[in-house]
Amino acid sequence: MPNTCKKFATFSGVSFRVWTWLFLCTGVWIVGQRCHAPVEVSISDADRYRLWEEARMWFQPLVPYDTAEWTPEERYYFLWGQRIFYDSSLGRGFACASCHPVEQYGTDRLATSKGGGHSIAHRNAPSVFHTAYQSGLFWDMRSQRLDEQFKEPLFSPHEMRRKDSTDILDYVHRAPQYAFFRKVLVGEGALQMKHIGRALATYQKYLITPSRWDSFLLGDVEALNVSELRGLEAFLRLGCVRCHDGILLGGQRATRFSPDGRYWHYTGSPSYDAGMYQWTGKPEDKLVFKVPQLRNVAETYPYFHDGSVPTLREAIRMMAQAQGHMSIDTQTICDIEAFLNALTGTIPLYAIKPSQHAAQRQVRAP
Ligand code: HEC
Ligand code: HEC
Repeated sequence: MPNTCKKFATFSGVSFRVWTWLFLCTGVWIVGQRCHAPVEVSISDADRYRLWEEARMWFQPLVPYDTAEWTPEERYYFLWGQRIFYDSSLGRGFACASCHPVEQYGTDRLATSKGGGHSIAHRNAPSVFHTAYQSGLFWDMRSQRLDEQFKEPLFSPHEMRRKDSTDILDYVHRAPQYAFFRKVLVGEGALQMKHIGRALATYQKYLITPSRWDSFLLGDVEALNVSELRGLEAFLRLGCVRCHDGILLGGQRATRFSPDGRYWHYTGSPSYDAGMYQWTGKPEDKLVFKVPQLRNVAETYPYFHDGSVPTLREAIRMMAQAQGHMSIDTQTICDIEAFLNALTGTIPLYAIKPSQHAAQRQVRAP
């Protein structure tokens, strides 16, 4: 065999072995990263009750509304708010529901909302579920009132593009589909922005999704399986609960992503967002964002204020790292993910636009 051919044979032999090893190692690594089916080792009753008691100290359950108890006025405001929420003429082609589709747990599932193929918002659209239980709205908590907040998207030149209050009142005053509500709720008086605010706030107030997690908190200690309970245990031990607590596991306060707030070190985000500092102007509010709620979090991807992280598992891993746990093992991430999945509730049928009820019922039918 000529010298060059010999060299080639040895080289390709070596490279074949290297590739085989690389291939095998990658395979083993990928399998290692996957969540295994929960190992249903049993958990003692004593441990279940211990976790339940601890959980009750940090979290509160969400209790469903009984729509039969609504006053007629509440019902009319709810129905009016629902219509306004889905009305795309309100926002010159954009409805609130365009970016917050209720049947998708109140978010468009885009990193940042798009219109005509372009990004039209610079932050991720959060869910509109459970907003009435939060102590501040938007990623930087710049609004505290659900009946006032709607003016921002309405008047934003990038979003719903209404000029001013007169422009919007004029439209709602003329729209024939609102005649009934104007008659019973406004009467002889003048239509005002506060009527529209109350309608939208009433509709959103009832966007809630109680889940198995609530059954657990209310005393059904069997409602969570072993993997979910292990996830809850890790959530408590790793200190996630320091920020994600209360009725929504978030939504009550604002903090930094990590002690220095440099979220991009973890998420790889290309853009800089100063967070709360943008409206308070206080140096200590730089890079401070609302601790988001974790109810329905499995359904409200992608994650973080700029939607930069597509999967829940990655979001959990980054949060743990940012909070000082350099790396947590794959099984713990999987358990926390299982626990967070248990926070997904059922969207009440009354919340969905009436014409979509039928389709939704079909989807849900067993
Ligand atoms: C073009 C997309 C878009 C439209 C249309 C839109 N929103 Fe939003 N919404 C967003 C984005 C993005 C945010 C987050 C902005 C921020 O934090 O700075 C948001 C935030 C919110 C929040 C705060 C949620 C939270 O947890 O903090 C509520 C409530 C809300 N929108 C309701 C509405 C209502 C009501 C309408 C209709 C009047 C509407 N939105 C129209 C994109 C949109
Ligand atoms: C010091 C407070 C703090 C602690 C502790 C904390 N978080 Fe967070 N978490 C935040 C903040 C703030 C955000 C939003 C950051 C952003 O969007 O830039 C967030 C966002 C998240 C999100 C994304 C939610 C969404 O809708 O985008 C998940 C998931 C999450 N945290 C899970 C966890 C887990 C799991 C732990 C424990 C390992 C944890 N967090 C610990 C403050 C905290």
